[in-house]
Amino acid sequence: MELSVQLHMDQERVDRALEDYASQWPDHGPLREAMTYSLMAGGKRIRPVLTLAVCRLFGGQVETALPFACGLEMVHTYSLIHDDLPCMDDDDFRRGKPTSHKVYGQATAVLAGDALLTAAFSVLASAPLPSEQICRGVSVLAQAAGPAGMVGGQILDLLGEGKTLREEDVVTIEALKTGCMIEAAARLGAIAAGSTPEEEEAAATYARKVGLAFQIRDDVLDVLGDAGELGKPIGSDQTRQKSTFVALKGLEACEEWVDTLTKQAIQCLEPFQNKEFLCALAQFLADRTK
Ligand code: IPE
Ligand code: IPE
Ligand code: MG
Ligand code: MG
Ligand code: MG
Repeated sequence: MELSVQLHMDQERVDRALEDYASQWPDHGPLREAMTYSLMAGGKRIRPVLTLAVCRLFGGQVETALPFACGLEMVHTYSLIHDDLPCMDDDDFRRGKPTSHKVYGQATAVLAGDALLTAAFSVLASAPLPSEQICRGVSVLAQAAGPAGMVGGQILDLLGEGKTLREEDVVTIEALKTGCMIEAAARLGAIAAGSTPEEEEAAATYARKVGLAFQIRDDVLDVLGDAGELGKPIGSDQTRQKSTFVALKGLEACEEWVDTLTKQAIQCLEPFQNKEFLCALAQFLADRTK
């Protein structure tokens, strides 16, 4: 099936499932509305799509991976709400709409993030899978989102503001803040499919390459992108004096790096049948304009 068709079908599937979970949250003040506002604001759903695609690659049933995929997207959405807060990147637009704190105020935005993060793990726990696989999935996501992963990267990102970091430090920051969650997305698909450890590692290596390329592309788009198309402001990194790859190496080197990482990612899938979608996805993400 052509990339755009499969991508659209999977995005729709994730959206429907997320809407369903959101409808079950209790209605305490503005909390559910704020959680749903950010979750359903029109994210690209790249991470949950990756989970479903890796599950398919290894012969799993997509329905079993859907709670993993949705839980991960909830954690990702929380990370964006907090990333945009005035005490962090201080951005006013996200997913084409005013950021959570602009609409609901900072306290509700913080709590909407907290609630999405916590709700995510009960969604994972509800997956129709043997408890051993669920347990591994929960552990993988917790590791990727926490101090050894995304949150660890976010604090280093903030500490790096106004400084010129070494290349290896920027790689660490970008791999942690973005790569870990993308790697987790692939691992969750592999776990849901009951893949072999070798299969899971191959998918994880693919995703680490794609994840780093994704963040470098994000840094490039912060300079060259169109805010309307991206649904978030551009120039934010320069305003905050972030130590991104663009700041360090320049745009051209970044484009080349994305290209190299994408080729390496595609290479990781060499041994597998039915890898066309994941190969095309890596290329699509490298070329994206939003
Ligand atoms: C934005 O992620 C944050 C980064 C890690 C670069 P996405 O570009 O996947 O954002 P959404 O989910 O589509 O809004
Ligand atoms: C944030 O990176 C990654 C997260 C963990 C949320 P950025 O700060 O570059 O993401 P954008 O550009 O605001 O989406
Ligand atoms: Mg940030
Ligand atoms: Mg940001
Ligand atoms: Mg960015």
